Amino acid sequence: MSVAVYPGSFDPITRGHTSIISSGLEAFDKIVVAVLHNPRKSPLFSVEERLELIRESVREMGASPERVEVDTFEGLLVDYCKRKGAGVILRGLRAVADFEYELQMANMNRHLEPGVVTMFIMADDAYFYVSSNLIKEAAKLGGDVDRLVPSCVAARLRAKLGR
Ligand code: PNS
Repeated sequence: MSVAVYPGSFDPITRGHTSIISSGLEAFDKIVVAVLHNPRKSPLFSVEERLELIRESVREMGASPERVEVDTFEGLLVDYCKRKGAGVILRGLRAVADFEYELQMANMNRHLEPGVVTMFIMADDAYFYVSSNLIKEAAKLGGDVDRLVPSCVAARLRAKLGR
């Protein structure tokens, strides 16, 4: 069975992320969406909230829960991949701005564990400019981001930001 780990902060999950999961399911039997637990960051959503929103978004997508696992990890990503029996790290690419950061991470991960390969999927062009950070910024300032995030995330953003 081909397993890919799709790691990230997912604070919160966007439609850009769900488009990568959908495309990834065309290529892999199973995708493990892995939320980095990073105590040094101060996210808008707790790890538990992010896991819940990802699970709900996967349900909204109609993806089979057997094929999409949602989990959290700490420490080195390549070690987590080995524990999950995954030979692939899946990452989304948007505009060229992502390239430098992704190249550095992919090369570091290859250095650490040559047996784990990083593969990229281009984000759906409808969501090319969508990032969790911009979603949070726009939502905090009262912008309408409903079409850019799964509906459970839109509702939770409104509840969290008091709109
Ligand atoms: O959504 P993000 O914040 O761009 O995701 C970054 C992530 C989680 C993929 C990256 O920070 C990561 O893999 N962290 C785990 C620590 C690690 O393995 N570092 C060495 C390789 S860069």
